[in-house]
Amino acid sequence: MKMELDRPAQRPSRFTIQPMATADIAAVTRIERASFTTIWPSDAFYNELSTNKLAHYFVGRYDDRVVAYGGIWVILEDSHVTTLAVDPEYRGRRFGEVLLLRLIDEAVERGAAWITLEVRESNVVAQRLYRKYGFTTVTMRSGYYSDDNESALIMWAGSLRSELYRNRLRVLRARVEA
Ligand SMILES: CC(C)(COP(=O)(O)OP(=O)(O)OC[C@H]1O[C@@H](n2cnc3c(N)ncnc32)[C@H](O)[C@@H]1OP(=O)(O)O)[C@@H](O)C(=O)NCCC(=O)NCCS
Repeated sequence: MKMELDRPAQRPSRFTIQPMATADIAAVTRIERASFTTIWPSDAFYNELSTNKLAHYFVGRYDDRVVAYGGIWVILEDSHVTTLAVDPEYRGRRFGEVLLLRLIDEAVERGAAWITLEVRESNVVAQRLYRKYGFTTVTMRSGYYSDDNESALIMWAGSLRSELYRNRLRVLRARVEA
């Protein structure tokens, strides 16, 4: 009982998103290894953060621990989700969705009109998330992934600036915030 009383008051747990910093790369790499069968070269995140002006990377923290990350390139009207992953222990808590929403917001704020990404044909979980946010499959690239020759679906969401899409985001944001 005494130990209970002496324990410092705990802060409420919450999920926050910040721009990725080089200090986050080790944690991001740990999540990447647990999430993908092929991983980026060891210096790729560092190069993206330090030299690619078109790249915007974010980490999601839960109680100060990096549990998710994602990135997007924005090139004038075009944008491309380069990566998105949640620590396996923290999946199913809307963290991936909140992070995707952050990437879409970044694209819209920087003037993008459409957004694209590629996803493994077998990755139905990610595809479902993307479809929820208005992505549709526009084409398939056979044998895109070199480790096992799996095909990639190229997904696309357009008219990001349209009232229709903005309304869709508003509704989804309100649901996820609730
Ligand atoms: C894809 C990923 C980022 C989703 O993150 P998450 O935090 O677990 O997902 P969320 O809790 O935010 O769920 C959001 C939506 O994703 C989909 N989803 C999540 N888990 C799912 C599951 N087990 N089965 C089916 N759909 C699922 C649903 O559409 C869900 O929304 P809904 O429940 O309203 O339908 C995560 O599973 C992941 O890191 N996977 C491995 C890496 C990866 O595949 N990245 C994408 C590369 S293209």
